[in-house]
Amino acid sequence: MKKRILVTGGTGFIGSHTSVELIESGYDVVIVDNLSNSKADVIYGIEKITGIRPAFEQVDCTDLPALENVLRKYQPIEGIIHFAASKAVGESVKEPLKYYRNNTVSTINLLELMPQFGIKGFIFSSSCTVYGQPNTENLPVRETSPRQDAESPYGNTKKIDEDIITDFCKSGAPIQAILLRYFNPIGAHPTAIIGELPNGVPANLIPYLTQTAIGIRECLSVFGDDYNTPDGSCIRDYIYIVDLAKAHVAAMERILNGKSDKQVDIFNIGTGTGVSVLELIHTFEKCTGVKLNYKIVGRRAGDIEQVWGNVDKANKILGWHATHTLEDALSSAWKWQQKLRADGVM
Ligand code: UFG
Repeated sequence: MKKRILVTGGTGFIGSHTSVELIESGYDVVIVDNLSNSKADVIYGIEKITGIRPAFEQVDCTDLPALENVLRKYQPIEGIIHFAASKAVGESVKEPLKYYRNNTVSTINLLELMPQFGIKGFIFSSSCTVYGQPNTENLPVRETSPRQDAESPYGNTKKIDEDIITDFCKSGAPIQAILLRYFNPIGAHPTAIIGELPNGVPANLIPYLTQTAIGIRECLSVFGDDYNTPDGSCIRDYIYIVDLAKAHVAAMERILNGKSDKQVDIFNIGTGTGVSVLELIHTFEKCTGVKLNYKIVGRRAGDIEQVWGNVDKANKILGWHATHTLEDALSSAWKWQQKLRADGVM
């Protein structure tokens, strides 16, 4: 019998790509999502790619009784991959309580229900945001690098969730957890059937860039060229979404195959390479042949100057590697943007 995995936030950007990889690795996938920032059509996209339609329940993970019904309906479930969360940094500053409620209550509810339903594995969607701005001598950051005060309520919820999961594991709960700290996920599935679909004006670099390239936005603003980096623009570790999705399968398999020797373990998931905003723009232009309209503007408040990850631990212990190049990721993002145009979505 196929092992069943619950994916919360499974119609979102990372959740949908992970659901595809789970199905293609032979898992039975149940998606729960409240559709607050995604569309139910994504389920059909996942089916189109894999040939299998995952079960779907429109449920908010902060609703404990509804979540309990889902776990009862689909038992036995072997593991949970928890993506469902509010994720807009700027909005979190304006509406902190929404973030603290959504992002912590959903985690608590899932953890609380796991022992009751005999669910063993928990993979949590964390972020390199927990490292804040590391000292230059600490770059690339390792899992053991110090966490720092969060720049936003959103970032703080990732730290708090990490602590909640760790404390629950330490209490002797019959579960194992893996915290995956992602760097910057970008790109879309190579089929261009699923991808990132931001609401309104994108806050993140890649959707803003591809929307500019296709003419929806007039000009991409580069937030600062006076940072202490080689070309003055900020540096990030951009990880291709399909590679990131595969890391979740590797992490879940480690727990389900009894290979994890820790109750809670942490892995950085990135490429191990830092790329500046200007380098990324030039790579996009080169690999797509599209000239991008951009201008340098002032710094964006709260931006980290530079961060990229040491990913040796994930390479060695999870046996996972990022195999796609930045060109692959940017080409896929461009193909996805063109597909949205062809479909009349935007
Ligand atoms: N940037 C621009 N112009 C834009 C948008 C972004 O120059 O229009 C720059 C930013 O200044 C930054 C880089 O592009 O240097 C990446 O910015 P993103 O907004 O795409 O990503 P961030 O690194 O700021 O944040 C992302 C996620 C957060 C998460 C964080 C760390 O959006 O949710 O990574 O994991 F917390």
